Amino acid sequence: MGKIFVDACFGKETPYTPVWMMRQAGRYLPEYKAVRAQAGNFLNLCHDPEKACEVTLQPVDIVGVDAAILFSDILVIPNEMGMKLDFLAGEGPVFESPVRDEAALDALIGGEEAANKLTYVYEAIALIRERLAEDKALIGFTGSPWTLATYMIEGQGSKTYNICKKLIYTNPDFMHKLLLEVTEVVKLYLEKQIEAGVDVVQIFDSWAAALEKSKYFEFSWNYMKDIAAHIKAKYPHIPIIMFPKGIPAYLDEIDGDFDVFGVDWSTPMALAKEHLGDRYVLQGNMEPCRLYSKEATKECVTSIAETMKDGRHIFNLGHGILPDVPVENAKYFVSLCQEVSKR
Ligand code: CP3
Repeated sequence: MGKIFVDACFGKETPYTPVWMMRQAGRYLPEYKAVRAQAGNFLNLCHDPEKACEVTLQPVDIVGVDAAILFSDILVIPNEMGMKLDFLAGEGPVFESPVRDEAALDALIGGEEAANKLTYVYEAIALIRERLAEDKALIGFTGSPWTLATYMIEGQGSKTYNICKKLIYTNPDFMHKLLLEVTEVVKLYLEKQIEAGVDVVQIFDSWAAALEKSKYFEFSWNYMKDIAAHIKAKYPHIPIIMFPKGIPAYLDEIDGDFDVFGVDWSTPMALAKEHLGDRYVLQGNMEPCRLYSKEATKECVTSIAETMKDGRHIFNLGHGILPDVPVENAKYFVSLCQEVSKR
């Protein structure tokens, strides 16, 4: 049986428009919280293929999405490049020793050696592949080199990204050297995810909006494009989704060898369609907080369906689902997307 999600990524005709949600395996599900509690903490959960498989499948079974996304985190990459990582309650991810000088950069583990340390991810993928229904797709993912570098350099989430930006304007060579090293690991990591069984890959550039336009293309998008071209050349049958968050003003210059452009919630779908709809399938883009209200959800789903009725589309949120969203509303969103788009 074919996978409707993969068909939609390639712009093929499908019986309805498929839907999934970024961060769909997460804390809004009591079943997720129970498995996470068993694991002890978030990183243990990422490191345990059996449990990671279990939480990956939960939203497919409970909410009815058309694709599963591998349960893991973008930050396992720098973690396996040798950076000690903690997820602190209420504070999010923290790296003990951020990379801010040549010595720290040289100490990073790179290439095959780093990619080979992520075995628990490849084992989780193999288990999910075995247990996921034949007609559902499995999405693998990575962070973009820039988004990963923000955490590696700042050491944690940031409001201003001033340490990264200081490097961009005072020592761009250092920044490029780090980005290149991360890019090499990401390429191998995605290849190994594909070899292990993912059907689609998505590159998350969550902090795209931190950079002015010319710096965005130089320090982020060009690396994402390079990764996409590398994967496309080797695995043309694997769709690639690019998700740069918050760059509606840069859409006219977006190009590259990928299949789906993930539209974030701050970008009007009609604008994305005007600039990119002829060249790419568009994914998205309901504002995730609309999930607090069924009425607000319905209004938005109807409007996106109307905008995209003569276009190529995948339903999603415009960023991750939040932990306090009622499960019932998530189910409502998913079934409504599938219903309104029936052909
Ligand atoms: O989407 C999915 O369901 C798959 C799993 C997934 C997680 N993180 C699980 C997670 C994916 C695809 C990610 C990607 C990720 N991680 C991104 C890019 C996407 C985005 O949201 O912009 C980023 C920037 C991260 C880094 C990260 N991980 C942060 C900033 C945090 C803390 C914030 C938070 O939501 O708690 C995490 C932790 C994290 N990653 C959780 C989950 C389910 C929560 C951990 C917990 O269970 O306590």
